[in-house]
Amino acid sequence: QATALDEVRAAADVAALDAVQSAFLGKKGQVQQVLRTIGKLDPKERGPVGRAANEAKQAIEGALEVRRSELLAAADANLAESEWVDATLPPPAGARASGRGGSIHPITALVRDMEDVFLSMGFETLDGPWVEDDHHNFGALNIPADHPARDMQDTYWLTDGNLLRTHTSPVQVRAMETREPPIRAVCLGRIFRNEELDATHENTFHQCEGFFVDRDVSVGHMIYVLESLLHEIIGPDVKVRLRPSYFPFVEPGFEMDVTFRGDWMELLGCGMVHPSVLEAGGIDPNEYSGFAFGMGIDRLVMVRHGVEDIRHLMSGDLRFLSQFT
Ligand code: DAH
Repeated sequence: QATALDEVRAAADVAALDAVQSAFLGKKGQVQQVLRTIGKLDPKERGPVGRAANEAKQAIEGALEVRRSELLAAADANLAESEWVDATLPPPAGARASGRGGSIHPITALVRDMEDVFLSMGFETLDGPWVEDDHHNFGALNIPADHPARDMQDTYWLTDGNLLRTHTSPVQVRAMETREPPIRAVCLGRIFRNEELDATHENTFHQCEGFFVDRDVSVGHMIYVLESLLHEIIGPDVKVRLRPSYFPFVEPGFEMDVTFRGDWMELLGCGMVHPSVLEAGGIDPNEYSGFAFGMGIDRLVMVRHGVEDIRHLMSGDLRFLSQFT
């Protein structure tokens, strides 16, 4: 037992410890050999020898366990020391040249650019759940069950009655429910629609929702904020125009067009938050007003980089993504 305990404590690694274990406790190990001879002993000696052998066995087992966890802990500490990587370092030049270095997805890049502009104007960024309930995605946005506007957005319904959010507008409602005006916020995130897929239609894409609720908010504030955004992300020469349009959650509602390659391009929906939507969010429409807008992000990415098929964006195809390193 004394020899075994010395050897256990001296084992420098797990392999050495395994060798000690089998030398003493293995089928042909020393403790087994003692136990095997007991039958041949004088009957008076069998009890004491058997007991001593079992005590030795337990003592050795206990020491093995202690030493094993010491060695494993040391190996872990050593691994952390010898194999750490600095994940913030840029990839080596070779990796970058081969296109195999990581890169920011073009949607993420545009989202970050847009968030920067909004942050500089005092907006905060919010998240909302992808799995929404009927109330936040439709009802609170002034789209009751029989409303034809529900057909404008083909919805993925879940078996429990919830749905995958069809737009980022529900984040407006969630923000109003939990905050007091002034609320200045944007939500840039993923949405889902049950669409026929082609080069310009995906069943998952991204929207930027923005809203501002306070006393005396007007259409003028809305135009200023949207123009500032578009000047930053498209260019200082971009012109915008508003056309009257209809969305159930705003009144009046508009669509905003921007100049693009010498023509007008339809870009976003916007308007003054409908009084029923303010009420659904727990905000008194007699005291407060607000504007809201929503725009597709994927289409802007396509324009920015000349992408001809929207399905490339979420494909995860490295031949596409490696062009953005
Ligand atoms: N939620 C609308 C959609 O998905 C976009 C939108 C239009 C958002 C007008 C707004 C708005 O906030 O005011 O098509």
